[in-house]
Amino acid sequence: MTLMEDRITPDVLASLERAPDPRARRVLESLIHHLHAFAREVALTDEEWLAGIRFLTAAGQKCDERRQEFILISDVLGLSMLVDAINHGHAAGATEGTVLGPFHVEGAREIANGDDLAAGWPGEPAVVSGTVKDLDGRPIPGARLEIWQADAEGLYDTQRPSYPERQLRAWLRTDAEGRFGFRTLRPTSYPVPTDGPAGVLLAMMGRHPYRPAHIHFIVQAPGYHRLVTHLFAAGDPYLGSDAVFGVKPSLIVELARDADSGVHQATYAFVLEKAL
Ligand code: BEZ
Ligand code: FE
Repeated sequence: MTLMEDRITPDVLASLERAPDPRARRVLESLIHHLHAFAREVALTDEEWLAGIRFLTAAGQKCDERRQEFILISDVLGLSMLVDAINHGHAAGATEGTVLGPFHVEGAREIANGDDLAAGWPGEPAVVSGTVKDLDGRPIPGARLEIWQADAEGLYDTQRPSYPERQLRAWLRTDAEGRFGFRTLRPTSYPVPTDGPAGVLLAMMGRHPYRPAHIHFIVQAPGYHRLVTHLFAAGDPYLGSDAVFGVKPSLIVELARDADSGVHQATYAFVLEKAL
């Protein structure tokens, strides 16, 4: 090892001595430590360093109000699920969370409990209903459920530039007994966007880009931890190989097709944990 290679890491770490924010200093020290160790471990070449710079540049250039490539990269590397696990360890019995994903946008419209989230959209009809309760089994009336999902072709509204936004997304409130219900389309499995650096990364890792069919939820009520989660459709071929590692067995539901009506039906009991 050259003297330079020996000195560079302690020199950079020492340069943080007057960092004003202690938490920022702790995070940056660790980042520098691991970044340098990574470059040493793989003996990073000039070309690889430049490829990394180009990759990050392309990720930034891919981002706009509708597209967040950095979240997608974090998701396919499993970082998003790790950060979720670190920060949202849940009490036994409370519903588990999973990734928010890059397709959540503000401004979903309110629908009445029982309404159709997907009115006028082609696809197989489905009804999702259930309850929101606390850990003691008490119903939570007026809990806010925000719901969003991809259409029958596996695309979110934000992925279709010609569509007005805010389709297949809405929010509603539970009734006095903590019950909710809505009509929608049966979700399908779909590939995460592969036309940017995250797609290049997946190909380099020899992985497919698919997510198993799911519906997104944010469930919240005053005094309770906000729950960001999905419900996954049982039987989906990608449940064991989700491109973003988001599947948890407790979030898989049967979407059984009613023989008479042809409507798929699922029920789920969300359990929220009290905020301290
Ligand atoms: C999603 O389910 O919307 C999603 C999550 C992570 C990456 C891409 C899509
Ligand atoms: Fe999704």
